[in-house]
Amino acid sequence: MSSLVSNLKLEGVLSSPSTRKDVPAEACQDKSIFIAEDRLAVRQTAWDSPGQAAYDFRSDYVTSPNGAMLSSIINTSLLDDVMKEDPTTNSFQDFMARLTGHEDSLLVMSGTMGNQVALRTALPAPPYSILCDSRSHILGMEAGGPATLCGALLEGVFPCNGHHLTIEDVKKHATLREDVYDCPTRIISLENTLSGTIMPLEDIRVISSWARSQNPPIHMHLDGARLWEAVAAGAGSLKAYTSCFDSVSLCFTKGLGAPIGSIVIGSSSFIKRARWMRKLLGGGIRAAGIVSAPARVAVEHVFLGGHLRASQDSAKQLSKLWLSLGGKLQYPTETNMIWLDLDAAGIDKERFADLAQNAGVKTMRGRLQGRLIIHYQICDHALHVLADLFVSLLAGNGGSIAKNNEG
Ligand SMILES: Cc1ncc(COP(=O)(O)O)c(C=O)c1O
Repeated sequence: MSSLVSNLKLEGVLSSPSTRKDVPAEACQDKSIFIAEDRLAVRQTAWDSPGQAAYDFRSDYVTSPNGAMLSSIINTSLLDDVMKEDPTTNSFQDFMARLTGHEDSLLVMSGTMGNQVALRTALPAPPYSILCDSRSHILGMEAGGPATLCGALLEGVFPCNGHHLTIEDVKKHATLREDVYDCPTRIISLENTLSGTIMPLEDIRVISSWARSQNPPIHMHLDGARLWEAVAAGAGSLKAYTSCFDSVSLCFTKGLGAPIGSIVIGSSSFIKRARWMRKLLGGGIRAAGIVSAPARVAVEHVFLGGHLRASQDSAKQLSKLWLSLGGKLQYPTETNMIWLDLDAAGIDKERFADLAQNAGVKTMRGRLQGRLIIHYQICDHALHVLADLFVSLLAGNGGSIAKNNEG
């Protein structure tokens, strides 16, 4: 093993964890693999720095896996997870179940797979419907998965308070009758955060206890791709949120920087059935340790290590600047997402993206334009570039921004 590793090192595939600026050296689990460093010419690799992610505001899924994650991959066990034999993956699933206060959990490949596995697992035989926010990812951005995979009717509801679903919305739109004309609500699927906004714990608790009191009880699912952000913002603990749900999907690639992976949380019997659904969707993989090991680093170092809050503070400062210049926001900035209202500012969306690009930062084009996400790898210089762009645009001289991110 060590000769393989030193060969990799010589070829520049591995690098020292100590060369990373944003990950403490002690975060790397086994420094012994980085041998004979003084004799080796260390070449920078993609694992050594956030790279382009430092200037990329398109999403928090652009976060780059780091050296500690690479180290965890080198040190992982490589046994078969379809046969449940991989200790790294088993221990990670136990860890996630404990962290969220549920009985069990199941590693999946993506947030979409997590939601779809959970929804398919929760549904018995049609007819059935899933009640969700009309802006939710499962409705608009999962390629019609619930219709294709579950044959479910999606009842998308726009919240009457304009921010998040409440019990009033749910009671008004849930189908409780079992008349032959009806398509009964079997799942309430919530999303938190949704477009970066936080669904308050108290509202979730009320919906959850109502859903669970129905006969039959309505399954509560959470698309918690970014639940980390709500927790980091101090809106409630992870367990307080997850206890309101029968299944939760959490992503390790959004904001936490893992290369691959999400997880589904639930009861033992739920996860047993979810394992079948994951298998039939092609998500049963063999040496799953290469996914679960860096995912654990992501949770421990980025989420539990407290790296998310600073990005939220930056997002709030930038939003404040935009508002102080007379700009408007599509949604309030409650976590790490800023939603500029470019239409209200009379700024063409493509032009905004072009100006940002000329200034040296990336912003979303096409769908989701005007959304900026601050993640933990965004550097201070990128924040300044964005702030300058705001000033320049709202002061009426857009286009004069210098390409100045070389400094
Ligand atoms: C709220 C939410 N749920 C689920 C997903 C799907 O995750 P993935 O891209 O890993 O499939 C995303 C992706 O951005 C998301 O924003």
